[in-house]
Amino acid sequence: MVTRFLVCFVFAVAIASVDCNSEGDALNALKTNLADPHNVLQSWDPTLVNPCTWFHVTCNNNNSVIRVDLSNAGLSGQLVPQLERLANLQYLELFGNNLTGVIPNEIGNLTNLISLDLYQNQLSGEIPTSLGNLVSLRFLRLQSNEFSGTIPLEVFQLVRYGNLHILNVSDNQLVGTVTIQIQPDLQLLK
Ligand SMILES: *[C@@H]1O[C@H](CO)[C@@H](O)[C@H](O)[C@H]1NC(C)=O
Ligand SMILES: *[C@@H]1O[C@H](CO)[C@@H](O)[C@H](O)[C@H]1NC(C)=O
Ligand SMILES: *[C@@H]1O[C@H](CO)[C@@H](O)[C@H](O)[C@H]1NC(C)=O
Ligand SMILES: *[C@@H]1O[C@H](CO)[C@@H](O)[C@H](O)[C@H]1NC(C)=O
Repeated sequence: MVTRFLVCFVFAVAIASVDCNSEGDALNALKTNLADPHNVLQSWDPTLVNPCTWFHVTCNNNNSVIRVDLSNAGLSGQLVPQLERLANLQYLELFGNNLTGVIPNEIGNLTNLISLDLYQNQLSGEIPTSLGNLVSLRFLRLQSNEFSGTIPLEVFQLVRYGNLHILNVSDNQLVGTVTIQIQPDLQLLK
């Protein structure tokens, strides 16, 4: 019994030191930056080996985060560049909150992202050119924020050369605001 405990303990320490809970640290950096009046982030305990048991977080079989679902959660505050450490993230759902500030350029490093839903917040600044790196992205919904400037050409190119099916940037302060919804056989921007 003692031996088994020791083996488990050593094993856990080994995993923890290899893993260092880098993804948990990234999410905890986000939590630290947010006001959370409804305590939806209460289960986000950074002392755990990984964030896979936290509410609103989904992992793959390798205990790597693939989804963060925090829509309509009453959150305010800013996004953090540390989110780039969530290398396998596919769904970042943060719509319907009171988020402010910019989209960090580092979000463009999340090349496995399928859905980036930041609509209905108060995000501002320019839409980062780096989002043009998100070649897996199918849904980019940024409508109803306070984004300004122009939509980067690199983002439009995701529609033509990438997988982007829905790009909604309406209800912002952008120059040349558009909504594009692509049907499977329809080619826009030809
Ligand atoms: C899990 O990690 C292994 C080794 O790094 C890799 O071969 C495998 O594709 C990963 N599986 C998933 C679901 O990411
Ligand atoms: C945003 O904040 C305002 C003022 O605190 C609040 O009334 C409103 O309900 C919040 N909206 C969301 C979506 O949380
Ligand atoms: C992450 O993004 C930043 C800002 O776009 C960039 O400077 C950096 O090289 C990227 N890092 C990696 C590992 O791709
Ligand atoms: C884009 O966003 C606007 C503003 O919220 C909304 O009215 C419209 O239905 C959306 N379009 C699509 C295709 O989702």
